[in-house]
Amino acid sequence: MNVDAEEAFEAVVDEVVKTAPRIADGFADGRTYEGDENPSGHEVLGADLHANRLLKECITDLEGVGGFASEEEEGVVDCGDGVGVAVDPLDGSSNLVTNNPAGVILGVYDAPLPSPGEGLVGAGYVLFGPLTTAVVADGDGVVEYVVETERGEEGAEGVRVDERELTLPEPTVYGFGGGRENWTDGFAGFADEVEHELKLRYGGSMVGDVNQVLHKGGIFAYPALRERPQGKLRTLFEGAPMAYIIETAGGGSSDGEGSLLEREPDGVHDRTPVYLGNETVIERLEEEV
Ligand code: AHG
Ligand code: MN
Ligand code: MN
Ligand code: MN
Repeated sequence: MNVDAEEAFEAVVDEVVKTAPRIADGFADGRTYEGDENPSGHEVLGADLHANRLLKECITDLEGVGGFASEEEEGVVDCGDGVGVAVDPLDGSSNLVTNNPAGVILGVYDAPLPSPGEGLVGAGYVLFGPLTTAVVADGDGVVEYVVETERGEEGAEGVRVDERELTLPEPTVYGFGGGRENWTDGFAGFADEVEHELKLRYGGSMVGDVNQVLHKGGIFAYPALRERPQGKLRTLFEGAPMAYIIETAGGGSSDGEGSLLEREPDGVHDRTPVYLGNETVIERLEEEV
């Protein structure tokens, strides 16, 4: 059966939401480093591996999925014909130690992976905070849900309730990663201006920090750093999916040159500077970096 890309996107979102409570069930015992490093050179937590295992299992089995890429997988897992699914199985995993927000980021590309963000048919994230929420963006807009847990013979399953449409409000908050001591002079100059106009909201996980910008307007940045001109965040499963969500909500994105959706990733683990938020703020940013 030929499953079209939009249907495949919906099926992937359903699976990720359904699996979310089981990912969270792995947090308590998954907060220690397992010793090995992933393709990005990050130390890997038990919870990273647990989330990756669950998502790889359920997504690669789906009709209409042709490829699976993950922060925790070296290459693209080939699973036939269909869309390419890129996931950050646990974003902000280091936050588990301090019990701060973390989440899952997903991008579904109607193109072989790695693909520029223009190939995205949809993107979304699950955010584990005081409550679990899911944000889903596709051609029809951006919708947020609360994810409730139903426990039955099949174990814990997430179900979406309380649907609400989101559009980006006027700017009120900012969150900048990397540390001022590592910023370029251009970005530090921009930050000096913004810090007097907006309120600081930075929690150390991209999902939590972008979610604040989506709800309150403003800018999230993990900028190009003096010693790391490509920054820290990955294009395929962090930068592009989050740019798709913010641009669909009426905002803008940049890697310093232009929209993150136009960036051609150099491999699955390509890094990119990330600037996301209101278009007016992104335009000012691009003049300064
Ligand atoms: P991940 O846990 O998937 O590797 O991502 C961590 C990223 C991202 O969530 C966040 O924006 C950034 O790391 C924070 O980095 P710093 O700890 O350097 O602020
Ligand atoms: Mn990591
Ligand atoms: Mn991440
Ligand atoms: Mn991660």
